[in-house]
Amino acid sequence: MTSPDHPLSLAQPERREFVRVAMMLGLGCVGIGAGVYTIASRLPASVQAGVLPLLPLEEALKRKVGSWVNLAVTVARRDGYKLVTREQHLYFKRAKEGQTEDCFAALSSICPHAGCGVDLLHGKDEPDRFRCACHNAKFTGEGAVESGPAPRAMDGLKLSVGDHEGKRWLMVEWKDFLPGSAEKKERG
Ligand code: FES
Repeated sequence: MTSPDHPLSLAQPERREFVRVAMMLGLGCVGIGAGVYTIASRLPASVQAGVLPLLPLEEALKRKVGSWVNLAVTVARRDGYKLVTREQHLYFKRAKEGQTEDCFAALSSICPHAGCGVDLLHGKDEPDRFRCACHNAKFTGEGAVESGPAPRAMDGLKLSVGDHEGKRWLMVEWKDFLPGSAEKKERG
């Protein structure tokens, strides 16, 4: 039992003050936790789901058939305890006339050789092609390997048509795939 003379003992008013401060700190922590949860739960859908809104369907239908364009999506990953967002680039094209997902195509811009960014080469009078400047991998306009060290074709991404913000949108299922292997394997 502590005596009033013990160096660590607290007089009655000090003890009450100590308990009051400890309770306030506890309530503060609960408040911060609730705030973090509320902010995370209100993040836009584009940074929370694996299937991300890419482009309003109306806009996608205005695009010229066969021409690739570079688009960005915001991808979220939970890193231990916090949500980390980053921008990822992909290539998108309207592959044929029509409004269903199979009329469009998307390729990851991450090179399947060692993960550099693949560039789009717009041909003047010839079809678009892709090239990775890191080790000079070349890909056809469909993403197949043409030459160089890439062990597989550029990685296709799954598209779907869905509702977002009251409109019909093209949605993309963003995935990271492991570079350096002939097999398309999702990064764990
Ligand atoms: S990373 Fe693209 S060719 Fe090596």
